[in-house]
Amino acid sequence: MDTDRTLRTFTDFYVERGHHLITGSTLLPPPSDPVLFTTSGMHPLTPYLEGRPHPRGRRLVNVQRCLRTTDLDEVGDSTHLTVFEMLGSWSLGDYGHSQSLRWGFELLRDGFGIPEGQLYVTVFGGDDQVGPDTESLCTWEESGVPVEPTVEDNWWSNGPVGPCGPDSEIFVWTGGDDTPPEGTPTTDPRWVEVWNHVSMRYRRHEDGSLTPLSQPNIDTGMGLERLLTVLQGRDSVYETDLFEPWTRLLPRLWDLDEPSFRVVCDHLRSGVVVIGEGVRPTNTGRGYVLRRLVRRLLTTLWQRDPTRTLSDLPRELVEHTLDHFRLSGGTDPVLGVLLDEEDRFGKLLDRGHRVLSQPRYRGRLTEEDYHYLHDTHGLPRDLVVGMRSLRR
Ligand code: SER
Repeated sequence: MDTDRTLRTFTDFYVERGHHLITGSTLLPPPSDPVLFTTSGMHPLTPYLEGRPHPRGRRLVNVQRCLRTTDLDEVGDSTHLTVFEMLGSWSLGDYGHSQSLRWGFELLRDGFGIPEGQLYVTVFGGDDQVGPDTESLCTWEESGVPVEPTVEDNWWSNGPVGPCGPDSEIFVWTGGDDTPPEGTPTTDPRWVEVWNHVSMRYRRHEDGSLTPLSQPNIDTGMGLERLLTVLQGRDSVYETDLFEPWTRLLPRLWDLDEPSFRVVCDHLRSGVVVIGEGVRPTNTGRGYVLRRLVRRLLTTLWQRDPTRTLSDLPRELVEHTLDHFRLSGGTDPVLGVLLDEEDRFGKLLDRGHRVLSQPRYRGRLTEEDYHYLHDTHGLPRDLVVGMRSLRR
């Protein structure tokens, strides 16, 4: 199951069941949206989940690129990426949660060939506002898939206010075919979550209260890269066919340990997508997220060897990424932005090292030192902290 076949299997399955395939939105929400980047498949569909009729009908399917800065600290593990793609299906006030779960089970088992003995699910166990999700519990029990009820892990929201609801998460056993599944999703990390089916039927208000949405919806989301990892029997997203050019070309260029390789690969790929979407490095907003990605990957590269430069980056990596995300910005402009930022960061570090080599900065730095370094020399605190461990 390579990337293309996986994508097609998912979208065909839903199209055959009356869903309209819609084009994924850009990573950049409209100016009226306070969120910097699109964070999930449902995000651009919020007005339709809230009741506005969608021009393509009540059943939708798509593939949506997403960026989550909340996961930045987890990047480097085997499943989290800064930019990832979400396979999504929606019922806008049409069919209910049971139908969605039954189709989900069918697709995983028959479409993707995951043995049913390697599935486990969780459902909402109820709290003081909403009762337990007995409908989902019964549906799974009828299917014969083991179920674990939880509370916090089975409530989905996109923020403190707005559409939300109980969900059912589907986990796949990744402990290997020779090791029979053990434990439950909350007790054994070898159960990896691949798909979330949300019964999005409430709105959360500022005061924490819930009211029903004008229509009950279903919103499902499955991380493409994580699914590929499971289907291809790999230990991490980086070992799937999606990252093939990266795993082939980067180690030839730079000798990196596994955690550094993952950070460099994730941040470069995400940086290329964000630049391809038209964002440029700045000190605020989206541009600052981009700046942090590029500076963090450069810091990782330069920790071992300060002569490493992005001008050595094979063009194929940029081309492959732009191509995969159907971005038309062109390889040279994207490389140009990366190299400009490398140049700017290198100069800032040189200036910083000159300043920090003064005797007054030898020992522990005070709050006042950090303020002075920032206000007078333009050296942000996290940079100063990082620089003291960086030889350049
Ligand atoms: N909105 C849910 C999620 O992001 C399902 O799409 O997990």
